[in-house]
Amino acid sequence: MFGIIGAGTIGTLIAVGLEKTGLYQCAGVNTRSRVSYKQFHGYIPCDFLSPEELIQRCSLIFITTPDDAIAQVAQTIQQIFSGDLVISPNESENESESESESESESETSQNKNSSDERGGDVRTLVHCSGALPWRVMDFDKHARDKLRGHRVRWRYIGVHPYRAFASIPDGIDSLQGTHFGVDGSDEQAAQCGRDIVRALGGIAHSIPEDGKVLYHGAAVLASNYLVTLASMAVDLLEGIGLTTEESLALLLPLMRGTLDNLETGGLGVLTGPIARGDVEVVRRHLAQLPKEMKDVYCSLGIRTLELAHRQKERAGRPYVREVEMRKMLN
Ligand SMILES: NC(=O)c1ccc[n+]([C@@H]2O[C@H](COP(=O)([O-])OP(=O)(O)OC[C@H]3O[C@@H](n4cnc5c(N)ncnc54)[C@H](OP(=O)(O)O)[C@@H]3O)[C@@H](O)[C@H]2O)c1
Repeated sequence: MFGIIGAGTIGTLIAVGLEKTGLYQCAGVNTRSRVSYKQFHGYIPCDFLSPEELIQRCSLIFITTPDDAIAQVAQTIQQIFSGDLVISPNESENESESESESESESETSQNKNSSDERGGDVRTLVHCSGALPWRVMDFDKHARDKLRGHRVRWRYIGVHPYRAFASIPDGIDSLQGTHFGVDGSDEQAAQCGRDIVRALGGIAHSIPEDGKVLYHGAAVLASNYLVTLASMAVDLLEGIGLTTEESLALLLPLMRGTLDNLETGGLGVLTGPIARGDVEVVRRHLAQLPKEMKDVYCSLGIRTLELAHRQKERAGRPYVREVEMRKMLN
């Protein structure tokens, strides 16, 4: 049994994806508002549960709230759990026994998740943030102190789809084939994360815990800023009288073509005035661009010039007016 805390886009997509496998069953959901619960219920008709009830029923809990709430939710869960065990340790042991009995007919990854090779009870918390490491959920020290001898272990996993999902309907079925970054509190946790990704039809990549911030920064540059760049280009076209629709009609095939070129040719597919060394064209752009766009144009231009230099070098040709170009962009 798994549970979801935070019934938004990713929580719903993960729950739907896991339920579809037939290996995982959603025991319930906890979320902030009725609106998101009702929306979730439209996809998976399960109960709204308190965190206490979720912990009782699930060995695997996904915290799919906004990033800023993940640590607080994880802390609450572990505090409630440790409190339960201290008050009634036998009850908790029975609970995990009955859980494994009820699931014993099919050897699912969940079964594998709910106990470890040492025979202890394992509880797994998963978040889906790209920027945060698994460690933000680890509030176990307090619980460990209280639970000495109770053989309960927490396992923490980050399972991050490297993809932007604007809405639930747009994302349904699209976890299949999606690349995921996975980090975990130990090798077993990471393996459990990879199992979840495989069940969702995704492709798992191990991300070092201390590399998560830059792993996520790369996604912001390549995905979020692509939208920002498109909006700047639309502004320029609207400024010369085109409508937003016309502007996007012009820009989207251009952008798609560039992505296709990147896919087939890697990073050596740069075209345009900086790639060609057309200094006068760049000078004319800079003469007419609004101030705030000029800054972006120039800082991306410097990086573009470096790519162009390498591209020419690989082709065995010199970049003739590099000094002039660099001076203009600096
Ligand atoms: N969307 C993406 O493309 C994407 C891609 C990769 C990873 N992620 C990650 O996935 C996670 C969720 O993102 P999302 O886009 O799915 O966000 P979202 O659509 O805004 O959903 C967040 C959900 O959490 C609920 N919530 C907020 N605070 C809560 C709390 N304290 N306790 C319980 N529920 C709470 C919200 O409820 P209400 O709306 O009712 O207030 C909402 O249903 C984040 O870690 C994000 O970084 C997102």
